[in-house]
Amino acid sequence: MLQPRTKVAIFSLLLVLSSSFPAAEPAIGVNWGTISFHRLRPSTVVDLLQQNKIQKVKLFDADPGALKALEGSGIEVMVGIPNEMLSVLGSSSVASDLWVRQNVSSFVGKGGVAIRYVAVGNEPFLSSYAGQFQNNVMPALLNLQQSLAKANLAGYVKLVVPCNADAYEADLPSQGAFRPELTQIMTQLVSFLNSNGSPFVVNIYPFLSLYGSTDFPQDYAFFGGTTHAVTDGANVYTNAFDGNFDTLVAALTKLGYGQMPIVIGEVGWPTDGALNANLTAARAFNQGLINHVLSNRGTPLRPGVPPMDVYLFSLLDEGAKSVLPGNFERHWGIFSFDGQAKYALNLGLGNRLLKDARNVQYLPSRWCVADPSKDLSAVMNHMKLACSVADCTTLNYGGSCNGIGAKGNISYAFNSYYQLQMQNSQSCDFDGLGMVTFLDPSVGECRFLVGVTESTSAAVGTYWGGVIVWVLVMWSVWVFEV
Ligand SMILES: *[C@@H]1O[C@H](CO)[C@@H](O)[C@H](O)[C@H]1NC(C)=O
Ligand SMILES: *[C@@H]1O[C@H](CO)[C@@H](O)[C@H](O)[C@H]1NC(C)=O
Ligand SMILES: *[C@@H]1O[C@H](CO)[C@@H](O)[C@H](O)[C@H]1NC(C)=O
Repeated sequence: MLQPRTKVAIFSLLLVLSSSFPAAEPAIGVNWGTISFHRLRPSTVVDLLQQNKIQKVKLFDADPGALKALEGSGIEVMVGIPNEMLSVLGSSSVASDLWVRQNVSSFVGKGGVAIRYVAVGNEPFLSSYAGQFQNNVMPALLNLQQSLAKANLAGYVKLVVPCNADAYEADLPSQGAFRPELTQIMTQLVSFLNSNGSPFVVNIYPFLSLYGSTDFPQDYAFFGGTTHAVTDGANVYTNAFDGNFDTLVAALTKLGYGQMPIVIGEVGWPTDGALNANLTAARAFNQGLINHVLSNRGTPLRPGVPPMDVYLFSLLDEGAKSVLPGNFERHWGIFSFDGQAKYALNLGLGNRLLKDARNVQYLPSRWCVADPSKDLSAVMNHMKLACSVADCTTLNYGGSCNGIGAKGNISYAFNSYYQLQMQNSQSCDFDGLGMVTFLDPSVGECRFLVGVTESTSAAVGTYWGGVIVWVLVMWSVWVFEV
């Protein structure tokens, strides 16, 4: 047996080694968002993660249904705190203690959930928030850190703040700096992260650069080499991801933390809803990214040191997300809303291809379409109404259903609405203009969906059902023991 002092020495040696080589093996994880009309059961999603050997998952809240399903899975979890909660968590240590107790302590432990990170806010410094959440971040972090310490979890659970890449800027990577109005808060943030051994978490989206600017060179967004390389002194950048990553490295270096580990909190490519959003492009980007990261090549400013972890955005399509950023916003999944792989992707985790979700509970195979025998000239209002609640984003320019014609448009809208209403027969009426069909109306890449019967509210129901049963069992044990 080793003497305690030798143990400590070896342990510190290992610590030194691991901190000077943070490049261990980058891990590929996924974001699991749930803003969907047709939600899979959390247990179906966890099975999907396990089938695909995904060991890390990032959530946007601390949904008890999702956490319950992750229990005992061994999957490492980053839970999230929405920006709206930062203010109360920063101003009340009671609130922060409660948050940690309810959303972390009650789940971690043997056979529980491996919650390793808490994302405090989501892109709270986003320019478009105009500073709304900015001043709540540090107070929330400080309170939560104390709450974690009180719960004896400060060593196990790390606090992080996922930032949008708009927190920093530069013409060339080596000139990277945080936005001037963020300098002070970023100085505090990175010093806090550093003293707790937390990484800097950033979301990087070459797709948005391409979408947002007509003169952004298309091949620079991908990883296959480019005719538009960016030369920065002695360094040459052939893809936007590396250029962006190194801009952050330079910004951190300016604050004195050039070695801080970096985690990519979100990165990905949508498959629908815009011209550049399609299956071929999404596959090329995501596979290129994964291969690049797993090659351990790193970037010019961090040769041989790839990001610590990379969380793909996203696991599943989320058909109920706001389309304010664009119609593509509902189509980021590597799987469709119902857990079906959209394209061939090797995550580098052991499977050569993605595996589909198993045992998905679909509604019956039927669709609602426009009745071809009817005069459809008065249908516009129905269509507008259907699309204002259900998802019709694929119909627009650049979408996978854009070419299906006027009748096709109407049918698509009717069906989206009908499925959203769980195939309630009245929801296919549309003043007699709709009819139910048992023939799949899908055309080419344009898929007419069938909803799933699984939903989170049902799962939460079972969860509370389980709790009640458990309480009754404990109560009877207690009654009969006495
Ligand atoms: C725990 O997290 C959930 C989901 O984000 C939230 O609704 C709830 O208010 C949190 N609990 C506390 C005590 O703050
Ligand atoms: C898919 O997107 C790529 C890359 O942005 C684009 O070059 C290509 O033309 C698109 N393909 C189709 C079929 O629209
Ligand atoms: C179908 O709807 C889309 C989106 O509103 C529109 O761009 C397209 O022109 C429509 N097609 C026809 C043939 O009306």
